[in-house]
Amino acid sequence: MKRYLVTGGAGFIGSNFILHLLHGEHCARVVNVDALTYAGNLENLRSVEDDPRYAFYQADIRDPEAMSAIIEAEQPDYVVNFAAESHVDRSIEDPGIFESTNVGGTVNLLNVCRAAWEQADGGYGEHRYLQVSTDEVYGTLSLDEPDSFFIERTPLSPHSPYSASKASADLFVGAYGDTFGMPVLITRCSNNYGPYQFPEKLIPLMIHNACHHEALPVYGDGLNVRDWLFVEDHCAAIDLVLREGRIGEVYNVGGHNERANIDIVETIIRLVGERLDDPEINSSLITFVEDRKGHDRRYGIDASKIAAELGWRPETPFEAGIEKTIDWYLSHPSWVEHVTSGAYQDYYEKMYGHRGAAAEA
Ligand code: NAD
Ligand code: DAU
Repeated sequence: MKRYLVTGGAGFIGSNFILHLLHGEHCARVVNVDALTYAGNLENLRSVEDDPRYAFYQADIRDPEAMSAIIEAEQPDYVVNFAAESHVDRSIEDPGIFESTNVGGTVNLLNVCRAAWEQADGGYGEHRYLQVSTDEVYGTLSLDEPDSFFIERTPLSPHSPYSASKASADLFVGAYGDTFGMPVLITRCSNNYGPYQFPEKLIPLMIHNACHHEALPVYGDGLNVRDWLFVEDHCAAIDLVLREGRIGEVYNVGGHNERANIDIVETIIRLVGERLDDPEINSSLITFVEDRKGHDRRYGIDASKIAAELGWRPETPFEAGIEKTIDWYLSHPSWVEHVTSGAYQDYYEKMYGHRGAAAEA
């Protein structure tokens, strides 16, 4: 039974990970540290906020004093770093915050963990630090070579400010392992989808717009390919790597589920239209718009290392996962309304006496 400190636990994957831990059998305590930017939403964790094993701290991973105090008070065995600016389009508009949070925040967290965990003999006991990274650090694959995939030794070749910041963070994590002997691990996962994803990302945005008969903006020719993984499968992989992965290793995580964006959008149109029995939800809503700058053409993950070493495989077929996701969004209209209108800040005020970093900015 371990004590986990999860950063970015009010975001999409972090909150799913906390729910996964508290429903599982390995965790003694989960401490969620989140700055509550626009992407952090404590409503995701309503079902566990009274669980005595759960605690929340509003803090910034870039803040050395705050992070040291939390680690001193909570004495986690494991630190899992999800906290990040995560949206590629935002990184094109404002790269600086991506460097600051994703690189500076990671380095600060490594420093704080190292100071708290390093023992007199230079060892680190049973502690472990896991960096949640992304397949985007490898750059892009070609549509002409459908049998080529990213492996863990594929050279890093990021193209967006977001992926450059994630690759930089990965290099720091590796360097702290090599230089200071820190017990670090890195996971690099493909595109996640599922409940609680902020509707700026492709799948929840398309569900939201389809429901409201709004245009479905498809970048470029719509043929860019992503490898989609249901978020609960990613959470299971992270916990497994944390507990059983080999220290110092990188593990790719992917869905073996490559799809062109236009196919994803058409699937969403069909399923949302059927569920709402609404013939106005149809392909005429698709609007091809200007391509994203530096748009990576294809991502494809080879996840054979985590399968061979740890026995992990994705369990949710895309057809089941996308139906589950659409049903979740259709049955949680107030969650969607709160995050799109910003009203979830009212919830913070009621619960915590303030309106969160996003509202205060
Ligand atoms: P998200 O944007 O939904 O959540 C990020 C969370 O981090 C938010 O709760 C936000 O408030 C918090 N945060 C931001 N800056 C912070 C700071 N300075 N201090 C503390 N907290 C801060 O992101 P997500 O989609 O859940 O992604 C989580 C992690 O997984 C990221 O590191 C991302 O790079 C990685 N990842 C995401 C995907 C994906 O498909 N979404 C795939 C692979 C890897
Ligand atoms: O691959 C993992 C990455 O997946 C994570 O590291 C990132 O945090 C996460 O945001 C995601 O990045 P993408 O850029 O792949 O996801 P996004 O949902 O923004 O876009 C998916 C694809 O859909 C991409 O090819 C761009 C396209 N797109 C996206 C949006 C928002 C559109 O065509 N229209 C849109 O409106």
